[in-house]
Amino acid sequence: TVNINDNGTVDAKLPSGESVTVHLFGATVISWKLANGAEQLFVSSKAILDGSKAIRGGIPVVFPVFGPPPPNHATSSLPQHGFARSSNWEFLGKSSSESLGNKADTTVKLDFGLSSSMITEEFRKAWPYEFGLVYSVTLSPDNLETSLQVQNKGSESFDFHVLLHNYFKVPDVSKIAVTNLQDKVYIDKVDNKKEKNETNKEISITGETDRVYLDVDPTAPVAVIENGQPLFTITRKELNTVTVWNPWAENAKKMSDFGDEEYKGMVCVEPGAVKSWSVLEGGDAWEVEDEGLPTPPLLEAEN
Ligand code: BG6
Repeated sequence: TVNINDNGTVDAKLPSGESVTVHLFGATVISWKLANGAEQLFVSSKAILDGSKAIRGGIPVVFPVFGPPPPNHATSSLPQHGFARSSNWEFLGKSSSESLGNKADTTVKLDFGLSSSMITEEFRKAWPYEFGLVYSVTLSPDNLETSLQVQNKGSESFDFHVLLHNYFKVPDVSKIAVTNLQDKVYIDKVDNKKEKNETNKEISITGETDRVYLDVDPTAPVAVIENGQPLFTITRKELNTVTVWNPWAENAKKMSDFGDEEYKGMVCVEPGAVKSWSVLEGGDAWEVEDEGLPTPPLLEAEN
């Protein structure tokens, strides 16, 4: 079932019990629950949901610039992480599928759209391109898949970044690790943007962490593990950068929409294409995918 709610959210529930909720502000996925009701995404208790600020948590969509925009670029006048996460999207509809009449295998896909004519005057002035975004959120019993299509509807080419800012909920950040980034070069944003080489097989989070891993083979899944077991497996198409972020204690206190202690229960693992600009010529389209797959053994343990 799919409901469009008065508070600007769309939710869907599978016959097998899993559910997803998407806020039209930013097309931000704000909840993803397994059949046993276990929430998979972190949303701050202080998150602002009235459209006055990007939602702190869930899966904000970052477009057309990741991070603070660089000077002397077409995105220079935009806010950090662009406008997609702070614009009102429209719900384009749902489609569902049932494999071989087996209700337990039903999946539901929700489509959302954003185009140049829908963004604020201010954003349009800052980034005056004709574009269309279609964002699809597909819920299946053991998986949430998000995919974004970018269309250039004008005649002039434009540069863009794309990133899906997954905030995963974890039981205890000091006990988890991020794997499959060994030997990758990363930009350490907490150390003057130095380029470093990742030597660890398992990256633990022990303090403020803000790293952009480069040239990560999209076919090799990055995982968040606990006690050697995957909590989330993130598979991707096209997205070859992975940002790992946790603000830790001091920065958590500085963020008005983030609880002081909440950094202990989250980690952001953000697939993106942000190393260099993607360029879309007039009339062209581009598509990416991101999947967060919790792995059955641990889920059984949680039941
Ligand atoms: C991460 C960035 O993706 O997002 C961090 O790498 C940033 O540098 C974080 O602090 C949160 O950004 P914002 O704009 O939502 O506070």
